[in-house]
Amino acid sequence: MAERAAVILAAGVSSRMNTMMPKVLHEVCGRPMLAYVLDACRDVGVKKIFVVVGFSAGQVRERFAEAGDVEWVVQKEQLGTAHAVLCCREQLADFGGQTLVLCGDGPLIRSETLDTLIEKHEAEQSAATLATAVLSDPTGYGRIIRDAYGNMQGIIEHSDCTREQLAIREVNPSYYLFSNKVLLEALERVKPDNVKKEYYLTDAIAGLIRTGHKVVAVTAVLPEEAMGVNSRRQLSEASKIMQRRIQQMLMENGVTIVDPDNTWIDARARIGQDTVIEPFTYIHGVVEIGQNCRIGPFAYLRDGTILKNDVVLGVYTEIKNATLDDGVRARHHSYIGDATVGRNVNVGAGSITANYDGQRVGRTTVGNECYIGSGAILIAPLVIKDGSHIAAGTVVSQESVNELGGKSNNDVSQ
Ligand code: UD1
Ligand code: MG
Repeated sequence: MAERAAVILAAGVSSRMNTMMPKVLHEVCGRPMLAYVLDACRDVGVKKIFVVVGFSAGQVRERFAEAGDVEWVVQKEQLGTAHAVLCCREQLADFGGQTLVLCGDGPLIRSETLDTLIEKHEAEQSAATLATAVLSDPTGYGRIIRDAYGNMQGIIEHSDCTREQLAIREVNPSYYLFSNKVLLEALERVKPDNVKKEYYLTDAIAGLIRTGHKVVAVTAVLPEEAMGVNSRRQLSEASKIMQRRIQQMLMENGVTIVDPDNTWIDARARIGQDTVIEPFTYIHGVVEIGQNCRIGPFAYLRDGTILKNDVVLGVYTEIKNATLDDGVRARHHSYIGDATVGRNVNVGAGSITANYDGQRVGRTTVGNECYIGSGAILIAPLVIKDGSHIAAGTVVSQESVNELGGKSNNDVSQ
């Protein structure tokens, strides 16, 4: 089996996004776009990944500080996608395997498509294999140019297309696999002969075809996978598509999502079997939900939420950085932040943890089998013992609990 490397392009400035932030750090369903592209490479067994960074390179590297399998390559000036790949010249010089080239702004790439590229590349013994897709609106993408027999001749960027070429709906999603040896040669030959005066990676493909190399196109890529993100509008469209994928995977794993269009679930969330997510639920961050829970409608679960099994959260319940044990119920208008809540605790309507005193965030621990009446305010830091009964409307501080002395259970009221 051939050895495989990947080059991911992520150095661009992205004027079309109108952003101060590197484009590949913009998030799709809670994760930066680049994270999805890295995962797709890992899923097909790529061990060596080069990411080309330039604009705000430090920010990108910092965000991915834990990615030990990534080697960062700096492109000082953004002279185009071919130039960006050539920045890895030294790293790739002696490499005899295959090199995947992908864009960091293509988060919808799936590893299945990379597998198809690899299979095709090997079966056809091609110099380069790339994907194409047919879009109803091809605006902005490089168009695939074919001759009268359907043979691919090259790729023309949108800004360089003639009126006839603009009508072509077959586009280049920028998913390529090259035999590494021919890649570097082809890149060296690319000239910036285009409207933008940039060195285009797409011209390397035309160059290979012209010099008699075999270039194969995989045409079966779905439109919803081909999308690159160049604008905020496309970012929101990509997020929609990713959201559908996340929900489909959860449903296959046995989660009921009552109204997928009105539910938003972060890519990092894990949800157990037979849990039901009611409409208008928003789950954002690393969140773990066990089995047989009932969440929503209108629930907001934030980073660090861990729900064990059989938890019921209802209308306007917000949870952050908190672990709720089996059978906890918080059905109406609650905020539980920075807390550990024991087994079978009932949190009455409108009860909250007051976890921030203006300077510090404090933790609240509620023991097993407690009953917290409606409208209670639990002022952190606070520990409430197992089996405690908090009367409705009580403001509970650690002081008030201590005053109850050696009782095994607290029975707190104002
Ligand atoms: C590119 C393709 C186009 C394709 C589209 C798919 C070229 C010339 N065009 O166009 O055919 O349809 O992707 O989404 O390749 N980058 C660098 N350094 C540079 C320039 C760009 O690292 O000097 C990076 C960008 O950060 C981005 C990626 O390369 O992640 C693609 O660049 P972008 O400007 O988005 O190209 P498109 O116009 O989308
Ligand atoms: Mg792009």
